Amino acid sequence: MIARKLTDKEEIGEIVDLLKDSGLPHLDIPGEDVSVYGFYEDNELVASGAIEYADDFILLRSLAVADPHKNKGLGTKVVEYLEDLVTESGCRYYYIITEIPEYFKKMGFKVIQRQDCPEPIQQTAEFTTFCPEDATVMKKTL
Ligand SMILES: CC(C)(COP(=O)(O)OP(=O)(O)OC[C@H]1O[C@@H](n2cnc3c(N)ncnc32)[C@H](O)[C@@H]1OP(=O)(O)O)[C@@H](O)C(=O)NCCC(=O)NCCS
Repeated sequence: MIARKLTDKEEIGEIVDLLKDSGLPHLDIPGEDVSVYGFYEDNELVASGAIEYADDFILLRSLAVADPHKNKGLGTKVVEYLEDLVTESGCRYYYIITEIPEYFKKMGFKVIQRQDCPEPIQQTAEFTTFCPEDATVMKKTL
């Protein structure tokens, strides 16, 4: 699987389609605070993931794996890839807002209360608008 940071409109359009198909927020992509990554096998888009920068804090988002490629470990690899970027940036923890906390618990994320989230994360569109109120906020310390 090859990872690429995307800036090309057409390639980002493909990611937006994958996010739509996966029922994930897409209206703020592309956005200046969001770095979007496409993951490819034989030039086919198989997964996506993104990092949103909110002041000094980082939100992992837009994790999606295309249907034919699910349950082959790709989602886990995408999280590992993005996590390496977080580490390189000097951050020692990061956040995710999700409806499938069980999946992320296996990768070491811990549930936190919404109100315990740093203010800049609380101000992201994912937090205020796109993710339902009952979505779970999780934090991973690296
Ligand atoms: C969630 C998702 C990214 C997982 O990707 P994947 O490549 O299929 O998952 P992996 O192969 O890395 O992991 C498979 C494991 O995760 C579990 N898993 C997969 N989807 C899950 C879900 N929706 N809820 C809980 N566990 C899930 C599988 O049961 C499997 O468990 P096992 O290892 O104990 O057998 C993918 O199903 C997806 O794109 N879902 C729709 C979008 C979404 O919900 N994204 C998360 C946004 S926060």
